[in-house]
Amino acid sequence: MPKNILITGGTGKTGSRVVKQLHAKGLAPRVGTRRPRNKDEMRFDWSDLSTFTDAFEGVRAIYLVAPTDTVDSLGAMQPGLEAALAAGVQRFVLLSASSLEEGGPMMGAVHAWLRSNAPEWSVLRPTWFMQNFSELHHRDPIRDESAIHTATEDGRVGFIDAGDIAACATALLVTPSVKDTDYMLTGPEAISYDVVAETLSNQLGRKITHHRLTVDELTERHQSLGLPEEYAQTLAAMDGVIAGGSEDRVTDSVLKLTGSRPTSIDQFVQQNMEAWTQRKDIKIRVAETANM
Ligand SMILES: NC(=O)c1ccc[n+]([C@@H]2O[C@H](COP(=O)([O-])OP(=O)(O)OC[C@H]3O[C@@H](n4cnc5c(N)ncnc54)[C@H](OP(=O)(O)O)[C@@H]3O)[C@@H](O)[C@H]2O)c1
Repeated sequence: MPKNILITGGTGKTGSRVVKQLHAKGLAPRVGTRRPRNKDEMRFDWSDLSTFTDAFEGVRAIYLVAPTDTVDSLGAMQPGLEAALAAGVQRFVLLSASSLEEGGPMMGAVHAWLRSNAPEWSVLRPTWFMQNFSELHHRDPIRDESAIHTATEDGRVGFIDAGDIAACATALLVTPSVKDTDYMLTGPEAISYDVVAETLSNQLGRKITHHRLTVDELTERHQSLGLPEEYAQTLAAMDGVIAGGSEDRVTDSVLKLTGSRPTSIDQFVQQNMEAWTQRKDIKIRVAETANM
């Protein structure tokens, strides 16, 4: 079992949950962040080489979350990955996405790099996170307008809880050996946004409506909320791909990796009711919602 573990993206949706789950196993991982706020966190920035030496010293396994401010994931991460190898890191567990093939754009390029260079590696390829409804761009419209806006039509998605992604990462970080492969991760069922709206309606006791927009209408909506045109188009187009069935799948990878069934949408809504009933001062980061 790797002794010292570094969690990059340690303050993010999956990384923070990996940290909690490692603590529950009695382990004390290093928590990488650009802005440490307490003694358990350490400064780590993929774009700042001076942060690598301390972060990687004595580390045997790393959870890799790509920097969120660039689409050139490998360009941004390669200096850090090479420094990690030189420091003796053995195992790399990368968070990628269901839509990113090995050798493709963004984390797909990091995936290919790991195959060629890493002594031990795993790549997690989750579909869309349930937390998009409770922590990201769908949260406020659900809470304030009782609305979900998409261009996904009847397209189904195997939505997954970030806690289940973290459980897979945790298992792969601590297991004695890994297979050097990738895992397509989903929740227990593929459902449309109509079903998500219905589940929310039932549990919140008020009607939540799934507004079916065209890709162009959704692009306009994203722009009206402040996204640059090109990015608004890319995000809306991803809904169009879902409408075409790209995410209509269910895998048993979470069960196989963790021994537990993944969280259902019913359980997720039940566990996160306050997200849609209480106003929180959290800045919604639409730019980090993309499964790409
Ligand atoms: N949302 C979805 O439906 C979905 C689906 C599939 C895949 N994904 C993928 O999931 C990834 C996001 O993972 P997440 O949700 O766990 O994280 P997140 O909540 O988006 O947080 C991003 C994390 O990355 C860190 N970070 C950003 N830039 C950094 C840099 N230059 N150097 C070091 N750390 C940096 C941030 O740390 P600090 O700010 O503290 O420094 C933060 O901890 C993205 O790659 C996205 O494509 C998302």
